[in-house]
Amino acid sequence: MSDAILRASLRGKTILVTGAARRIGRSIALRLAAEGARVAIHYNGSKQEAERTAADCGGADLFQANLESVSEIERMFLDIDQRLGGLDGLVNNAARFTHFDPLTITEADWDFIHNVNLKAVFFCCKEAAIRMKARGAGRIVNISSLGGIRPWADHAHYCASKAGVIMLTKALAKAWAPQISVNSVAPGVIPFGEQDAPEVAAMIRATPAGRPGSGAELADAVVYFLESPSFITGQVLAVDGGLSLR
Ligand SMILES: NC(=O)c1ccc[n+]([C@@H]2O[C@H](COP(=O)([O-])OP(=O)(O)OC[C@H]3O[C@@H](n4cnc5c(N)ncnc54)[C@H](OP(=O)(O)O)[C@@H]3O)[C@@H](O)[C@H]2O)c1
Repeated sequence: MSDAILRASLRGKTILVTGAARRIGRSIALRLAAEGARVAIHYNGSKQEAERTAADCGGADLFQANLESVSEIERMFLDIDQRLGGLDGLVNNAARFTHFDPLTITEADWDFIHNVNLKAVFFCCKEAAIRMKARGAGRIVNISSLGGIRPWADHAHYCASKAGVIMLTKALAKAWAPQISVNSVAPGVIPFGEQDAPEVAAMIRATPAGRPGSGAELADAVVYFLESPSFITGQVLAVDGGLSLR
């Protein structure tokens, strides 16, 4: 059987993208809408940008939630049930990124990162999977990071959170097979105007592809997993121009 027959179209599928107002999340939302999906745009603080993304997606529905709070996550999924009548796909994209010296980081700093980058990813997966199990199928894509594969000295807390996302992806893929596939896309350097920052510029110089990546390239990998048969599950695809090979 050819891939063309096996791969499912996204046309008419309801897919939630977290942190979809700006940057990579916006690129993913725009691409899914272009594929004919019914995109649910989640945002937290970026209301205006979210409204613009929703309009650019052809009038997508908007869902506001602070993902640090599990009760807000549960409320958002109930809202999606009521307004969209269920969910076929979830893209966990929302995250935080900070620099902290591991010798001075506080408990609050640690929770600031892990509550969004790891705890919220788990609880969004859980809420989505309950609904997908009831429908008999679903696709989850967790956006991790090159920082979950390679250690970055000033970002131990972030690297740990993203390595957690990668292991969560594998464990949940095993837990929820065969109905639900769970995969991860690990971005390398995808700058939105920060190319000139010394740390970012150094990473771009070290990238074998010789350039940074784009939101559109990330979105391409997300679409791949959303359209894939459930036989492809628990996988991590680095979209990093080869930087993880260094
Ligand atoms: N850009 C890169 O080079 C790069 C590299 C490696 C990995 N990644 C990963 O790729 C994904 C997207 O990257 P990005 O650079 O586009 O991300 P970003 O702009 O830093 O963040 C994406 C969105 O996350 C949302 N968010 C943050 N805290 C939240 C909270 N408490 N509740 C709900 N939403 C919250 C924000 O929504 P609001 O703006 O609405 O508040 C924000 O717009 C992230 O998972 C990131 O870790 C990116």
